[in-house]
Amino acid sequence: MKFCAPCLFGTEGLVAEELREMGCENVTPENGRVLFEGQTSLIPRANICLRIAERILIVAGQFEAKSFEELFEQVKAIHWSSYLPKNAAFPVKGWSLNSALHSIPDCQKIIKKAIVNSLGKDYGISWFTEDGANYQIRFSILKDEVTVMIDTSGEGLHKRGYRAHSNEAPIKETLAAAMCKIARVRDYHTLYDPFCGSGTILIEGAMLANNIMPGYRRGFVSEQWEQIPTALWQQERTRALDSIKHGSEFHAFGSDIDSAAVELTHSNAAHFGVRKQLTLSTADIKDFVPKTEKGTLITNPPYGERMMDVKAARELYRTMGKLFEPKRGWSYNIISPDEEFEKIYGAKARKRRKLYNGMLKCTYYSYF
Ligand SMILES: C[S@@+](CC[C@H](N)C(=O)[O-])C[C@H]1O[C@@H](n2cnc3c(N)ncnc32)[C@H](O)[C@@H]1O
Repeated sequence: MKFCAPCLFGTEGLVAEELREMGCENVTPENGRVLFEGQTSLIPRANICLRIAERILIVAGQFEAKSFEELFEQVKAIHWSSYLPKNAAFPVKGWSLNSALHSIPDCQKIIKKAIVNSLGKDYGISWFTEDGANYQIRFSILKDEVTVMIDTSGEGLHKRGYRAHSNEAPIKETLAAAMCKIARVRDYHTLYDPFCGSGTILIEGAMLANNIMPGYRRGFVSEQWEQIPTALWQQERTRALDSIKHGSEFHAFGSDIDSAAVELTHSNAAHFGVRKQLTLSTADIKDFVPKTEKGTLITNPPYGERMMDVKAARELYRTMGKLFEPKRGWSYNIISPDEEFEKIYGAKARKRRKLYNGMLKCTYYSYF
């Protein structure tokens, strides 16, 4: 079976690595997504274990279409009854870019009609109750290349369940996980985030270090599907639980100028049981003092969007440049959309990597 894992721009290589480690075949990174192949039984493992992908979709069909007729005929030709039971709910959504077929509502209607037509023939019915499990159909059309998919995740994979409340500008969990992966957070490391906000980077770092699978405590839409036995989901959750490393040396220090944010980090960390591995405080960056000989600092400082804010944000970059002393055993990893970042920070990064924080193009600067 063919699958697609959409992901944030810049993280395709990391998602491909996760998928290969999981034993997926023909892993092909593209722009903003990774295609791969595997058995249906892979669905629970991929949903529970992937840290950086946004969701897991089954690819039902891929073809070129420049007219509604072509779209209709090719969607109709897909063997839908092999995916969807008689009572399946199958809403359709999607997007189109640089393509002849650009009206989303029209594409939605055509795809829906074609699926109804195909299922109607196979099941011998013309009316669909759609009161069963949800099989969200998602389509993408890029330069006339259509991909029609079925969503196995439901809520995006970034929703791990620990961030019931968040502060003003939280970073997406999947992006924080990518930053921790790039900085090679290990179970014997000490992680620092002096702009911790609601604690996303610290918690993702702790989960990576302790091998805690991000999805084992949440549900997925395909758990309602009849083609995946409940026992398989249970088996994968048990496997995830058994693989957690207990008693690791990992520790994290987090701080923020906002005491409410520190409080949030504290309560969010409880969800995966990593609170004891965090030492938190309310502090201004200007008072940052490392507590250990070695450390991995990963941070998402304020960016500043209006002119005054940009000035204030840059002042923080200057402060960081003075405080983050280059020394053996330390790495400093900072994400920022500011193209002048290195100049203001006062040093050229050893590594730079393009990452998107939502739609915002950023660079992840690594000093080590
Ligand atoms: C972009 S947010 C970080 C969000 C965080 N990564 C999360 O996922 O919630 C920036 C944080 O920097 C904090 N901050 C602003 N100025 C600061 C300063 N001078 N010292 C320390 N923290 C500061 C803000 O309170 C805010 O929580």
